[in-house]
Amino acid sequence: MSANRGYLRFKVSQRVEHWLLFGSFTTLALTGLVQKFAQAEISIWLVGILGGIETVRIIHRIAATVLMLESIYHLGTILYQVLVKRSRPGLWLTGRDIVNGIQLLLYNVGLRSERPQQGKFTVEEKVEYYSLVWGTVVMIITGFMLWNPIATTSSLPGQVIPAAKAVHGGEALLAVLAIILWHFYHVHVRHFNRSMFTGYLSKEEMEDEHPLELARVEAGEPPQSEQPDAKVAARSRVFTVVYGVVALALLAGVYYFISFEQTALETVPRATSEATLFAQLTPVPQIAAASFDAPLTSWDDGIGDLFQAKCSVCHGGTIPLADLDLTSYETTVLSDTDIPAVVPSNAAGSNIILQQQTGDHPALFTPIELAKVYTWIELGAPRAAQEE
Ligand code: HEC
Repeated sequence: MSANRGYLRFKVSQRVEHWLLFGSFTTLALTGLVQKFAQAEISIWLVGILGGIETVRIIHRIAATVLMLESIYHLGTILYQVLVKRSRPGLWLTGRDIVNGIQLLLYNVGLRSERPQQGKFTVEEKVEYYSLVWGTVVMIITGFMLWNPIATTSSLPGQVIPAAKAVHGGEALLAVLAIILWHFYHVHVRHFNRSMFTGYLSKEEMEDEHPLELARVEAGEPPQSEQPDAKVAARSRVFTVVYGVVALALLAGVYYFISFEQTALETVPRATSEATLFAQLTPVPQIAAASFDAPLTSWDDGIGDLFQAKCSVCHGGTIPLADLDLTSYETTVLSDTDIPAVVPSNAAGSNIILQQQTGDHPALFTPIELAKVYTWIELGAPRAAQEE
C-alpha cells in the first residue's frame, strides 16, 4: 500500500488496456449500431457527420483491428500470470463466487442484511469480465464471416452469412446494454470508482467493496504478483520467446482476417444515371378512352385479327385448350363464361382485361395491343367501324 494514494488496483499497463478497450468498443458500437439501425434519423445524421457510410465502415474495421490486437496482448498477460508467475489471475472463477452471487442477490432483494465479503475482484466484476470475453470471441468469429463472406462460404453453407449478421448485431446490442446497465451502474452510479483513472482505491472503498483483499494486504501478504526470483525470471525468458511466436502467428491471423478478401469492403459504385428497377410486364392501361388517341377500332377492323393472332391457338383453334372461344365476335362478346370475357363499355369489368392485367396468362398482348383492346371495349366493343 502506498501511504497517501491508497491501495493499488490497476497498474498503468492495465489502465492502458482499459482505455484501448474503451476506445475500440465505443467506436465499434457507434459505427456498428448506425449500420444496424440504418434508417433511424440519428444514424443518418451520424453517418453524415462521419463522412458517409464508406468511411463509417472503414472506421469500424480499424477499431475491430485495434480490439483484436488488444485481445492478443491481453491473452499474453493472462498466460504470463498462469505460466510464469504460477498464480491465479485475479478474475479466476471459484466456487466462492457462486456463493457470493447468491448472497448478493439475496442482499439486493432485501433478504440478507449484509453484502457478501469479497476479494480483489467481486462476482459482479467477474460476470462482466466473462461476458466481455465471450462477447469478443463471438464478435470476432462473426465479424470474420461478414468481412470475408467468400472465404467463409467456401467451407460453410451460405445461410451462415445472414446468421452471422444477426448474431453480430444482436450481440452488439447486448454488449452495449450490458455496459450501460451493468458497468455504468456498478462503476459510476452506485459509487463513482476512479481507480481506472488514478490506479488506486481508498481504504473506505476497499472496506466497502473488497474487504477480503484489504484484510489480505493489511496482514502483510505480498500481492500475488510481486515475487521476483530466479525461477520466475527464467520462465519469463522462455515465455517471452514462446508467446512471441504465438503472438506473431495470431498477428498473421489478424492480417489474413483483414486483407484476405475485399468483397465486403468494396461496394458497387453509385449509379450516375437512373435505372429502372421494376418494369411491369403488361402496364395497366389507365388512360380513359376519350384521352387515348389511337384510331377507333372495331372487331372487323383489327381487333378480331388481334385475337386471331394471339389467342386463337388455345381459344377456339382446331384443338381448343380453353372453353372460351375468341375466334368470332359472337363467342367473344357474348360469351357465357362466369365473368364475361367482354363487357361492352366496361373494360375494367371484362375478363379479358382482368386476365391480361395479371401478367401471367400464357399469351399476353403488348401494352399497345392491350390499350387498343381496352379502348375498343370502352367504346362499346363495336363489331364494325362506326359510320361517321
Ligand atoms: C397457350 C394457350 C392460351 C393462349 C394462347 C391464350 N389463352 Fe386464355 N386461357 C388459356 C387457358 C388454358 C385458360 C383457362 C381454360 C378454361 O378454364 O377454360 C384460359 C382462360 C382465359 C380466359 C378466362 C376464360 C373464362 O372461362 O373465364 C380469358 C378471358 C382468356 N383466357 C383470354 C385470353 C386472351 C385475350 C388471349 C390472347 C391474348 C388468350 N387468352 C390466349 C390458355 C390460353
